[in-house]
Amino acid sequence: MISSVTKFNLKPYNTFGMDVMCNRWIEYTSSEDLPQISDMVFGNRYLFIGGGSNLLFLGDYDGDVLHSRILDLSMSIDGDGDLVVRAGAGVVMDELIEQCAVNGIWGMENLSGIPGEVGASAVQNVGAYGVEAKDFIREVECYDMLTLSFVKFDVRDCKYGYRSSLFKEKQNKGRYVVTYVTFVLNQNRGPVLDYGNLQSAVAGCELTPRNVRDAVLAMRASKLPSVTEIGSAGSFFKNPVVSIEEFERVKQLASDTADGVCTVPHYPVGNDSVKIPAAWLIDQCGLKGYHTGNVAVWHLQPLVIVNATGKASPNEITGMECHVIECVKNKFGIELHPEVEHI
Ligand code: EPU
Repeated sequence: MISSVTKFNLKPYNTFGMDVMCNRWIEYTSSEDLPQISDMVFGNRYLFIGGGSNLLFLGDYDGDVLHSRILDLSMSIDGDGDLVVRAGAGVVMDELIEQCAVNGIWGMENLSGIPGEVGASAVQNVGAYGVEAKDFIREVECYDMLTLSFVKFDVRDCKYGYRSSLFKEKQNKGRYVVTYVTFVLNQNRGPVLDYGNLQSAVAGCELTPRNVRDAVLAMRASKLPSVTEIGSAGSFFKNPVVSIEEFERVKQLASDTADGVCTVPHYPVGNDSVKIPAAWLIDQCGLKGYHTGNVAVWHLQPLVIVNATGKASPNEITGMECHVIECVKNKFGIELHPEVEHI
């Protein structure tokens, strides 16, 4: 079933809370609606969104905005004894994770609390606490708006990387509309606790998916603003991956101690690159809690830019974005790139 509304306010549909309009808002409940939808939007600008938790609208959207309400969910056990979950693109990711965790199913608990829907999680390859959506995805079903046909992608063909995928590639923008995602949860995998202080957060309690989920939710709540209370899009910037030479420069600028102990948090990427947390770089610039007008750098996690008063304009957000990028560039010579998609 397709429903549509003209001149629609997108404020409840973007977690930044931008007060912007689109020409038409279209929702659909079945993948079978997509051929008709491609006719409806033909010749118009259009945008498919999920939970709107990784978007920044820069102004009114002069086109159609589409949202999947494909909500069916099926579970089965495959020949290897693994749990196979096929979820509609509109299923809220955290509701699926909760269902798995309370039923004692290992796998997705580290992704607890991530806002957004199943379709977007497969496009974005969402990740947290050492786990990424791609670790469980077996197949992504889409409608191809170019060839007007249904297609299926095996996970190996989705080109997944850190917050990247085939579906996010420039030439594919607007092309593949995710309808269903199939996840496989291998019960022999057990918990993944080696990221940050997750291990210590679960120390002393029985190791169950539910307890790990609760620990992750508590850790998130202690440093990330709740998108239902304060507008943001989670991490605004990606963590930069730099060469060893650039890393050496950062170490010197961070005035590392003479006894050779490196104080710069970093994670090796392959043999010749290092990932440095953007949060640390921004923090070093003294920007934690910095605010101007209606916008602020979140005081508990500087990777997040917030619509502090709920009245921020898109220009104020991008103004803060530019300021953070400039400060980090001036201090460390590293250019941060937004994770949030600008529309
Ligand atoms: N740090 C500081 N100052 C701070 C906060 C952090 O210096 O105020 C440093 C610390 O060294 C800390 C490091 O930054 O160890 C990394 O911080 P944290 O683990 O909190 O964040 P992150 O690893 O950079 C990523 C994801 C988050 C995800 C967490 C947990 C990105 C861009 N962000 O953050 O994802 O929840 O890991 O796995 O990769 C999101 O995508 O919206 C998101 C919140």
